[in-house]
Parts: sequence; structure tokens; C-alpha cells
Amino acid sequence: MTETRQLYASFDPARYHREYYSEVDPEVQFFLQQLHQTFAEGLTDCPGREVLDIGCGPTITAVLSASRWADTITMADLVPANREAVMEWLKEWEDQLDWSPHLKYVAALEGGGVTPSQLADRIRRKVNRVLPADVLQEEPLGAAVPNRHVVMQSV
Ligand SMILES: C[S@@+](CC[C@H](N)C(=O)[O-])C[C@H]1O[C@@H](n2cnc3c(N)ncnc32)[C@H](O)[C@@H]1O
Repeated sequence: MTETRQLYASFDPARYHREYYSEVDPEVQFFLQQLHQTFAEGLTDCPGREVLDIGCGPTITAVLSASRWADTITMADLVPANREAVMEWLKEWEDQLDWSPHLKYVAALEGGGVTPSQLADRIRRKVNRVLPADVLQEEPLGAAVPNRHVVMQSV
């Protein structure tokens, strides 16, 4: 087990959510605004728009606005518990983390053209896989996964 793996072995998705994402504080607002701007106006077009959020943690925050531009989204993280937390939200399981304040905030950034619930559906439609990843490896997702048009990383 590498040092990084040891460090992240005890990562607790619920605690992370509680500490950093229990509300849309000014820091999160800034992050969401930047992503909104990037995906609303900042990208050149390309066919089959593919986005990779690598080091996604247990969060869907980075893909809220990406789901507006992307055709498909891959989410990936080192820690199994984080990938499970994302899957729980995607599948609407009972103990899923609550992203409703963030959905509401980004829906408002989009000018009311989408409701928070439509935004959640949009993400669930576009995220087509949640994969194990290690950015310290030469092939972080393994050799079988092709490159993406947009790569987001916030580790
Ligand atoms: C500070 S959290 C950020 C999570 C999320 N991107 C966010 O913005 O809230 C760092 C994330 O990076 C992941 N991570 C750490 N080392 C990694 C590695 N070598 N490869 C892939 N993911 C890694 C951790 O599991 C954790 O989910």
C-alpha cells in the first residue's frame, strides 16, 4: 500500500460532506460560479463531448455545470467509499448525501431554465461510469480508458 493510499484509506465521505459541503458557503459559491462560467461560455465545441472528473471524492459539485455541456461524464476516485457515495447518489439510494443546496444554487446560476430536480436528472443521465483511479500512475484509469475532452481535477 502506498503512502497516499494509506492517507486516504480512512476517508469518510459523510464527514467530508458535513465539513465542506453542508451549505453553499462563499468558497463553494466561487467554485460553482467558475465552473458555471467555464461550461456556459468558455469551451470550444467538439463532437461527443466527454468530461472526466478525476479525484471526484464523494461529491457531485464539479459535474453540476459540466453536465450542461457534456454528452458523457466519467467520475473517478482512488477511494472505494467515495465512489460508493457517488453511486448511491446516482442511484437515489436512501442514505445518499444531500446535494440539494448545490443543485438549487447551480439551477439558479443557469437562469431558472432548469429546476434543481431536472438538473439532478441531467447529471444522472450523463454520468455513465464511476471508476477507480490513481493519478500517480502512468495510466490513472488503466490502459483501457481513452482520453477525454475536458479533465477536471481537484485533489
Ligand atoms: C480534497 S478531496 C477533493 C474531492 C472533490 N474533488 C472536491 O472538490 O470536493 C481529494 C480527493 O482526491 C482523491 N485522491 C487522492 N489521491 C488520489 C489519487 N492518487 N488518485 C485519484 N484520486 C485521489 C481522494 O480520494 C479524494 O476524494
